[in-house]
Amino acid sequence: MVVPPTPENLEKAAQILRSGGLVAFPTETVYGLGANALDAEAVARIFEAKQRPSFDPLIVHVASREMLGRVACEVSPQAEALIGRFWPGPLTLVLPKAAAVPGIVTSGLPTVAVRMPGHPVALELLRRAGVPVAAPSANPFGYLSPTRAEHVARMLEDRVDLILDGGLTTHGVESTIVMLGEKPTVLRYGAIPVEELEPVVGPLELSVGESLKPLVPGQLPQHYAPRTPIHIARPEEVPTRGRKKLGYLAFQDVPRGFGVVKVLSPTGDLREAAAHLFEALHQLDMLGLEAIYAEPVLEEGLGRAIMDRLRRAATR
Ligand code: TXA
Ligand code: MG
Repeated sequence: MVVPPTPENLEKAAQILRSGGLVAFPTETVYGLGANALDAEAVARIFEAKQRPSFDPLIVHVASREMLGRVACEVSPQAEALIGRFWPGPLTLVLPKAAAVPGIVTSGLPTVAVRMPGHPVALELLRRAGVPVAAPSANPFGYLSPTRAEHVARMLEDRVDLILDGGLTTHGVESTIVMLGEKPTVLRYGAIPVEELEPVVGPLELSVGESLKPLVPGQLPQHYAPRTPIHIARPEEVPTRGRKKLGYLAFQDVPRGFGVVKVLSPTGDLREAAAHLFEALHQLDMLGLEAIYAEPVLEEGLGRAIMDRLRRAATR
């Protein structure tokens, strides 16, 4: 349902976010498809709605310094300088993540991308919701980014709980993304030109487009691939002998004989499974097992994203 951003509708949208639903909302760049960033299952719904083939890390939107503190555990002086000059606005900063942010938001990376949007509707929604909101552009995977509520409605209406109509967005391109650290680096060109950033933060490295690829999880072995070897196999394909030293990542049912078993979704729900995938892999990886076997899931809906992540984890 497309509604104008009246106080009543903003309150309704905030409530939907707090209770794990999806709200499409205007920002000054493009419309975002938002969910409570601290609720892994709600975030899994974003991937499901967008039909993304993989779990790209998402940008988390905040309305205050207090909210920033809940998702990022460290804000360097360089980050402070950029925040002071460009927030609220179309600048996303990649910062060390706080423990409360679930792995599905960051694709298992130790960093989180955060921005404070400059759009009054987005800010008011975030304030009323009281939770940080993960939001990619509100379009199905591979489509053009939406700059009007109608674009969102045409493509996603039946997959979103509410669409707030703020008219045409100001920037129409996504935010500029900067990763801070020893060498501040632009990861995505966006609504704020590099020429405006450099006077504030000094010379910037550029790592846009092709060179962004090494940052895709699974190609960052030190950050993503578990230390324990992972194989994809059904329980019956794993030899019975020696199972006690193995971990099994099961989709729904508990198989026999393994040392440790993690079940992704006792009810067999792909969304629930996706929401818990990274946490389960992290937990199994910390146990010093000889190997982890993971059960393949049906490759439809979120199942494709789950298998994409498992295959990346299994490739070393
Ligand atoms: O303008 C925007 O930024 C829009 C509006 C809705 O705010 N949002 C947006 O979000 O474009 P999204 O989720 O589509 O952007 C995700 C991109 C990833 O593809 C990746 O390039 C970068 O943000 N990203 C997110 N987390 C990252 C991380 N931890 N490290 C490096 N890059 C990250
Ligand atoms: Mg996008």
